[in-house]
Amino acid sequence: MLFRSMPPSTHSPAWLALKSHQQTMEHASIAQLFETDPQRFAHFSVHLGGMLLDFSKNLVNHDTMHLLAELARERKLGERLRRLFSGGKVNTTENRAALHTALRSEQALVVDGVDVQPQIQAVLERMQKFSDGVRDGSIAGNNGRRYTDVLHIGIGGSHLGPLLATRALAPYATGGPRIHFISNIDMAALQRTLAPLAAATTLVIIVSKTFSTTETLANARAVLAWLKQGVGDTAGRQCVAITADTRRAADFGVGNDCIFPFWDWVGGRYSLWSAVGLPVALACGMAAFRDLLRGAHEMDEHFRNAAFEKSMPVVLAMLGIWYNNFFAAATQAILPYDESLALLPPYLQQLEMESNGKCVDEDGASVDCDTGMIVWGAAGTDAQHSFFQLLHQGTRLIPADFIAVCQPHHTVEEHHAILMANFFAQPAALMNGAPVVTNPHDRFPGNRPTNSLLLDRLTPHTLGQLLALYEHKVFVQSVIWGINPFDQPGVELGKRLAARIQPELDTNEPVTGYDSSTNGLIDFYKANRDARDRERGPQ
Ligand code: F6P
Repeated sequence: MLFRSMPPSTHSPAWLALKSHQQTMEHASIAQLFETDPQRFAHFSVHLGGMLLDFSKNLVNHDTMHLLAELARERKLGERLRRLFSGGKVNTTENRAALHTALRSEQALVVDGVDVQPQIQAVLERMQKFSDGVRDGSIAGNNGRRYTDVLHIGIGGSHLGPLLATRALAPYATGGPRIHFISNIDMAALQRTLAPLAAATTLVIIVSKTFSTTETLANARAVLAWLKQGVGDTAGRQCVAITADTRRAADFGVGNDCIFPFWDWVGGRYSLWSAVGLPVALACGMAAFRDLLRGAHEMDEHFRNAAFEKSMPVVLAMLGIWYNNFFAAATQAILPYDESLALLPPYLQQLEMESNGKCVDEDGASVDCDTGMIVWGAAGTDAQHSFFQLLHQGTRLIPADFIAVCQPHHTVEEHHAILMANFFAQPAALMNGAPVVTNPHDRFPGNRPTNSLLLDRLTPHTLGQLLALYEHKVFVQSVIWGINPFDQPGVELGKRLAARIQPELDTNEPVTGYDSSTNGLIDFYKANRDARDRERGPQ
């Protein structure tokens, strides 16, 4: 039974009120709004634990925030939110719950007649025992040698979360194995990753919710062959699998006691909080992983209880709606001013764009408004020497989230001061701009909106808060647009066509079964891939 009482519409009262309000605000000046409200920073900020969200540098006033909250209420966000947390089938096309929140709540929750919490805790216990064993050496390679390295094989949500978390929490990685990631099918990536590794001291982790992803299984087969070459037929014992399809993992040859399960009600891009987060426990210890869960749970509780106007996820989400749907801003920049968060933009690209890149609503009707924004970005201050020219003087409205950490893990004050000075300066410059003095090329239009997120420190707890914040932002936007954020049918068409083309590459026969471009490209490839050319080596 579909939950929604009425399809979202761009003709609803709340939407039309915002449309009318936009005609006022499009002529507003953010700098002017500060002039008229000396307390603007305090009025347009939200604190949660060690996190501060400053959304005062946006093209909004109190009426805007009220009208955005009204739209959320009109879309019954409160009810949808409660349904998300209570195990409702919010993944409407796959008739599943989406319970990444249950993975970190430690609270009983009955789904399809079964309390899911005991099985969640059982997997956490297995993760605890396994990661403790690898870290103290009691779980070791076939010849008893401690695992010095972990080779993690996965892609998409089975890769980006563990990669981001282990990179962000590197200062906490003491006493554990080094974690190496392989995701792409390009053998160059695997060869580069395998080069420094010794099979005897390498633990292999194969992560795939479906255990059917072509790239992951092809890489896993190649790595198992490498492992066998190094340690012989007992290679399988140096391999664990993390999956929601344990039968496929067993059929692949992974021992049942080496399979960490998760569930179909955990979306791939929402799975870091499940056994998919095992690399964090291996690298940093299980206590760090549990802190990550606690941070995410703190954001969950904030999301469940805060008034919309003071809810970090709702504020971030509705500001995105404001620019996306009322100012036609197509993209949103994520700008972490912290090297440990350099992989946050690619993580959020999948989270936001694979969740909300939809043109059909939950009822199967075409949506009548723009949905998911294009998410991009890079770490500052590198980004300033790459695309900030366009942010400052380009012709486009590009809302940006600046993210920084007050206390770095290093102690070199001078460098942090330079980094933070830029973190403070850029949003101010984007907002205030600069008038033309003589040279028109020196004109900075300004009035370019940004959010600033400040964490006191980057810890497992605050990382958990940060990632859960964006998970809930994505959910809120999906409710406003009336789309299902928990499926990804759009990735299948290309995969099916690739599966049809691949066997055609086995011969040098010209192909004719596609459009002339695809035929021509394949024929050119076949004519130029001759192995003799490769013998000449790179030119
Ligand atoms: O990109 C499509 C997708 O299904 C993602 O949603 C998922 O995270 C990724 O591929 C990997 O899928 P699996 O974890 O099943 O290997």
